[in-house]
Amino acid sequence: MTSSTAHETAHRSGPTAQTQSSTNGVAFPAGFLWGAATASFQIEGATTADGRGVSIWDTFSATPGKTLNGDTGDPATDHYYRYADDIALMKRLGLGAYRFSIAWPRIQPDGKGKINQAGIDFYDRLVDTLLENGIEPWPTLYHWDLPQPLEDDGGWPARDTASRFADYAAVVYAALGDRITNWATLNEPWCSAFLGYALGAHAPGRQEPASSVAAVHHLLLGHGLAARVMREHAAQSGYELNLGLVHNQTVVRPHTDAHADVEAARRIDGLRNRLFTGPLLHGAYPEDVVADLAGITDFSFVRDGDLHEINQVGKLDMLGINFYNPSWVAGSAEGIPASALEDGENSHGGPTPWVGAEDVVFVHHGFPQTAMGWEIDATGLSDVLLRLAEEAPGLPLYVTENGAAFDDEVDQNDGAVHDTERVSYLNTHLRAAHSVIESGVPLHGYFAWSLMDNFEWAWGYSKRFGIVHVDYETQQRTVKDSGWWYSEVIRSGGIPD
Ligand code: NOJ
Repeated sequence: MTSSTAHETAHRSGPTAQTQSSTNGVAFPAGFLWGAATASFQIEGATTADGRGVSIWDTFSATPGKTLNGDTGDPATDHYYRYADDIALMKRLGLGAYRFSIAWPRIQPDGKGKINQAGIDFYDRLVDTLLENGIEPWPTLYHWDLPQPLEDDGGWPARDTASRFADYAAVVYAALGDRITNWATLNEPWCSAFLGYALGAHAPGRQEPASSVAAVHHLLLGHGLAARVMREHAAQSGYELNLGLVHNQTVVRPHTDAHADVEAARRIDGLRNRLFTGPLLHGAYPEDVVADLAGITDFSFVRDGDLHEINQVGKLDMLGINFYNPSWVAGSAEGIPASALEDGENSHGGPTPWVGAEDVVFVHHGFPQTAMGWEIDATGLSDVLLRLAEEAPGLPLYVTENGAAFDDEVDQNDGAVHDTERVSYLNTHLRAAHSVIESGVPLHGYFAWSLMDNFEWAWGYSKRFGIVHVDYETQQRTVKDSGWWYSEVIRSGGIPD
């Protein structure tokens, strides 16, 4: 199969007349980076092509009952074969940057040792084609597709995985570092650790609270060790390296002013945010979080020098933030109507990713919700960015993911996808991003999640986050109204009226 089989149909030739309006004063600074994001397992397909090894997501998604409808990573959006057409589409939308991830099992099928040249060749082609089209490549080294053999050896709860990650980073950087400046090591380590090893809703599907906290540490250590080898290579070769990590910081608000709710917010903020920003930005795990977790783990996996590696060697040149929704939490469900209680990954009772805080409940606050059941409140994004700018003064920030799932359909009359709710979501969140820049926050870029509909992990193909619609029967791409709207934002450098 070749990329020529892909057909991207655009029902229109570009932005619509009604979006070609003035920016109404909402103009972003010159040089602001506009991008869109994806991840390898969510779009590539071709899971057995050209020597690719097996990842934990191949194993997990092939296990009955783990993903909705038994969906797997094949063929996803078939991007492995259609990348050239997809890049042509990115160019058409006017993207300045493309955030993607590299599949570790394509590079090292066993997770260590032998290098698979065909895997490197794919990313070589991808990067060269992006550059030929004037689009900056923004790779992430790890977006959750751990090689299965490393999981068989213990996965992220095992310290050795951090060293294997650094070896892999060295291989990829040696192959592509000459053409790429901006790199992220990890995507959302909170999800890898807690959804993968505590809740078990993500691969590898383990429910081991103590292991999940060890996984946090070894992911962060992997970041530091990878930074060391990449920085050394960059220094020797004279490459420019801008190294970051992508974190899903959110704002955690107490449901009421009651002490129990405020305390619940402190605990969840600790697990979701400060357990990561503590080591990364301040060189220490927060004392209150360590105390909260005393019944789960004693942190004896932290060895001398680890925090230096994470915080100093792995010092961030930039921080990527993925933001979707804020959270409201309460100390107990008492007095809260059952209909206002969130379920799913934030569930109270039963398995939960909130190790040591299983009693905390998550509460809906009456905002409109996306198809994921996530509440839409753009003040969450501004709060997150303002807080980080205060906590790490001067650290360049990027919104590396932001977007929403809705039940999009292709309109049978005009062949378009009229996703007005997504346009509104992007509009309000971009306005929030703009407002913090006005307040002096060093926010330098924004990536929409996602370039196109894709494999939404345990939800399979049922949730559509794309600004481009994918028909999974035909692999036809259709730019949604939100895609054209975003294209006009990029073209004008601001938000239309
Ligand atoms: C964040 C993850 O990085 C991405 O893989 C996922 O699809 C989106 N959230 C939406 O859930």
